[in-house]
Amino acid sequence: MRKYIIAGNWKMFKTRGEAINFLLQVSDKLPSSSLVDTVICAQAPVLRDLVKRQGDNLRIGAQNVHYKDSGAYTGETSAILLQELGVTYVIIGHSERRAMFNETDETVNLKIKQALAYDLLPIVCVGESLEVRENGTTNEFVKNQVVKALDGISENDVLNLVFAYEPIWAIGTGKTATPEIAEETCKAIRNAIADVYNEEVAQKVRIQYGGSVNPQNIDELLSQEDIDGALIGGASLDPDKFLSMVNSALNK
Ligand code: 13P
Repeated sequence: MRKYIIAGNWKMFKTRGEAINFLLQVSDKLPSSSLVDTVICAQAPVLRDLVKRQGDNLRIGAQNVHYKDSGAYTGETSAILLQELGVTYVIIGHSERRAMFNETDETVNLKIKQALAYDLLPIVCVGESLEVRENGTTNEFVKNQVVKALDGISENDVLNLVFAYEPIWAIGTGKTATPEIAEETCKAIRNAIADVYNEEVAQKVRIQYGGSVNPQNIDELLSQEDIDGALIGGASLDPDKFLSMVNSALNK
């Protein structure tokens, strides 16, 4: 019932030429969005070039947005500008931004509201550190992030966002969460959404897994009941790997 969503988070990789080349290589090989949603989230200065090549089968996303309309916020990007450029998605609350750029549950919530106000679809990242995982408090930790992210978000609006469960210890480390661990926490996220709204709404919200996803492990992850896609870093930089992971979703 929930359509898969496969998203590449390119982080601070790829030159303009490399980014455009990637799109040229994959564009005519990607399936229609009626079958699977496919997204590439790139650095802000290249978004305009990529949006020009955006189609039904590939949407473009930003990796961050500010929560104010405009102002003296040097180095930040406004939602109004992203909307004007034609960007479709925006990643909010990635653990790298939480750890290195002071992003908090409160700013994540404000950014979600701002993105939705400008018709940008938020990909909201949550996930625990190794310390939290080893303490055995992962589900409580992640549920708390979800509840705070959703504060003041209407039932209609929550259907326009996607959650990405990204355990910090699995990002860029080659250590993927086992499908069982990923499923357990994605289910906890769905339960948290049901607590905020209701079960019917929770069943409609898509939840991705992210953290060392690659063409070899994606099948088993996507087979889990509460995993509706993947947010992929390193492996999304390679067009063949990206296509292979989209095909895994297509063939489910
Ligand atoms: P990797 O796939 O490189 O582990 O990165 C995951 C991630 O952070 C995606 O947002």
